[in-house]
Amino acid sequence: MKVLVVFYSVYGHIYRMAEAVAEGAKEVAGAEVELRRVPETLSDEILEKMGATEAQKTFSHVPVCTVDELVSADAIIFGTPTRFGNMCGQMRQFLDATGQIWMQGALVGKVGSVFTSAATQHGGQESTILSFHTTLLHHGMVIVGLPYAFQGQMRIDEITGGSPYGASTIAGSKGERMPSENELAAARFQGKHVATITAKLAS
Ligand SMILES: Cc1cc2nc3c(=O)[nH]c(=O)nc-3n(C[C@H](O)[C@H](O)[C@H](O)COP(=O)(O)O)c2cc1C
Repeated sequence: MKVLVVFYSVYGHIYRMAEAVAEGAKEVAGAEVELRRVPETLSDEILEKMGATEAQKTFSHVPVCTVDELVSADAIIFGTPTRFGNMCGQMRQFLDATGQIWMQGALVGKVGSVFTSAATQHGGQESTILSFHTTLLHHGMVIVGLPYAFQGQMRIDEITGGSPYGASTIAGSKGERMPSENELAAARFQGKHVATITAKLAS
């Protein structure tokens, strides 16, 4: 069973969440889990101006995803930062290159799941995940979220991301907040939950 974690990240918040998602998926027997980045569309100069150069070095070793790799996976868990309440353009561009495999129905019946990050607490985490689901449904994927069985999303004693739609983190307006323990636990839960359901579908 192959689980692919495909992400885009500028300052490393989504990368940190992607690692936690992968850790959770690996807990399921028989799961072969791989991390992949989608292609960057910004120049090094722009990334430098955005103050992202150092953060980018921490995940530059992660291979860039190809469309063919999506076809060979049994489950794909996508991670994207919020951009105005939607997925980022880099992820959109990558997905818009999947027209041919859509025509072949190559992702039909595979498990799809989404996690996200936003600067602010109510800055579009849920809308980013839900609007992402539309693309996965067009591909015929079976959508898996983050059930309330992950009790950490009930917490009100601290600010936290996470909703029934998927794990999320709040990065802060300057990107100064990295994912909390509770948000990482949500990501691990989601990864494990996706792999568990994928194993059941495969059998
Ligand atoms: C063009 C642009 C649009 C953004 N839109 C939002 C938004 O609508 N709501 C929000 O809370 N954060 C928004 N952000 C902040 C990013 O979501 C935040 O930097 C990101 O989640 C950090 O994750 P990363 O380090 O993995 O890139 C935006 C950032 C950019 C550059």
